Amino acid sequence: MALEDFSLSIAAEEFISIVGPSSCGKSTFLDIVSGLSKPKAGTIHIDGKLASGLALDRGFIMQGYAPFPWRTVIGNDSYD
Ligand SMILES: Nc1ncnc2c1ncn2[C@@H]1O[C@H](COP(=O)(O)OP(=O)(O)OP(=O)(O)O)[C@@H](O)[C@H]1O
Ligand SMILES: [Mg+2]
Repeated sequence: MALEDFSLSIAAEEFISIVGPSSCGKSTFLDIVSGLSKPKAGTIHIDGKLASGLALDRGFIMQGYAPFPWRTVIGNDSYD
């Protein structure tokens, strides 16, 4: 279980940092907020609306490099 008994409210225009030891679930939480991962339980609400899946109202900068350097931009965009 990467995240358990975890609850967080962030106000509009509030700037927060999430700090914790390696493997405590920080990236997992951000993956779920961004819509890249689905939680097995629990929900995320943004502006009062249930957030599920990818959406244009959220941006996410990955911790590690996401593109494959040997692929073109178009090649990185298509996962075949
Ligand atoms: N795709 C995955 N499948 C299975 N377990 C995973 C996966 N991704 C992460 N985990 C596990 O989930 C837990 C939380 O990992 P996560 O990457 O969210 O931690 P983190 O807080 O971001 O750590 P770090 O500070 O090292 O970046 C760890 O035990 C990790 O091994
Ligand atoms: Mg991380």
